[in-house]
Amino acid sequence: MTTKKISYLTPIRDSLGRPLKDLRISVMDRCNFRCTYCMPEEKYHSAFKFLASKDRLNFEQLNRLTRIFVKLGVQKIRVTGGEPLLRVNLTDLIGDITRIDGVEDIAITTNGVLLSKYAYELKAAGLNRITVSLDSIDADEFKLMTGGRGSLERVLKGIDEAAMAGFKNIKVNAVIKKGVNDKNILKMVEYFRSKSIILRFIEYMDVGNINHWQQEETLASKEIIKMISERWPIAPINENYQGEVASRYQFDDGQGEIGFISSVTKPFCSDCTRARLSSDGKLYNCLFASQGVDLRAWLEEGMSNDEIESKIIEIWNKREDRYSELRLANKNDPSKEKVEMYYIGG
Ligand code: GTP
Ligand code: 5AD
Ligand code: SF4
Ligand code: SF4
Repeated sequence: MTTKKISYLTPIRDSLGRPLKDLRISVMDRCNFRCTYCMPEEKYHSAFKFLASKDRLNFEQLNRLTRIFVKLGVQKIRVTGGEPLLRVNLTDLIGDITRIDGVEDIAITTNGVLLSKYAYELKAAGLNRITVSLDSIDADEFKLMTGGRGSLERVLKGIDEAAMAGFKNIKVNAVIKKGVNDKNILKMVEYFRSKSIILRFIEYMDVGNINHWQQEETLASKEIIKMISERWPIAPINENYQGEVASRYQFDDGQGEIGFISSVTKPFCSDCTRARLSSDGKLYNCLFASQGVDLRAWLEEGMSNDEIESKIIEIWNKREDRYSELRLANKNDPSKEKVEMYYIGG
């Protein structure tokens, strides 16, 4: 059977004109933390059934899909989880992805607890950048946020180890919940600015349904900016690339950079160029989507690359998601079923 060759311009564009430029791949639905807003212990206890390894995309499938996405315009890859460093031989996959022509940047988002173990291996595999999710610099708050798992000391050691292994521009992402982990913000800023780590504060948002998000729990970036500026004056700087999620600021005293991710108070959907792949191979157009398209089924049915390509083009061309903008306009359905963050990555 011959399939008709399709022609298209890359990067392909969605119905709102947004190009497909980034692919965020979740390689593992499990995590060794139990952050209360993401994987509360009550639900994700020892009997919870995570995906069986046979149901995850294997490395060959991940490589194949990544190549297809790159052909359609993707230049940036972010490997996420759950916790991606729990995926056995992850560095092999990263090494393979760095070899794909057209991949300009490959980064990982990790909770950092296994980073001391893997930092040098990840560097050797060709990984470009590391982002660590860390919600507090205070040991008690850290325990509260992570559901009593992990160790703050190990995460901080992992970050140091990553710097020693040669990673530059390491980022730390902190999700702030008002009244829960907002008391040590300045302490955290002080710690990381002295180490040239780029700390970014994330507005707590209504991803998934498990966290029962309430608007009052979100601390607006503007409040955090005010708090920080009173201690260390900061000023906005240009974005690194169009559609950068974080607003970047610089310390006036030359002690580096800090960022704010304000998806609740200042949504950035109009520039959203991100597609997301879950560990079992479902393609999601938005972090807040209800359903994904099962690409793993296509691979297992024996579909050709050309066919998969044209189906992905069709999906992306129809994409009209802009959940955060609709949230701001109060136009979201509060009962909407949404995919959970641990399953799709950040
Ligand atoms: P860089 O390439 O370093 O700029 O990475 P990034 O900031 O795009 O990615 P990262 O994974 O560090 O994103 C940080 C956080 O921003 C995530 O954990 C989410 O909380 C939020 N975020 C990232 N992308 C999106 C998005 O498309 N929509 C919304 N609403 N939030 C997002
Ligand atoms: N709001 C904002 N960021 C979140 N993350 C997880 N849940 C939320 C939420 N409700 C971030 C955390 C996590 C990363 C993958 O996404 O930093 O580790
Ligand atoms: Fe916490 Fe991230 Fe793990 Fe969720 S995926 S439990 S936010 S470390
Ligand atoms: Fe993109 Fe959806 Fe986030 Fe908007 S809410 S920026 S469309 S992932």
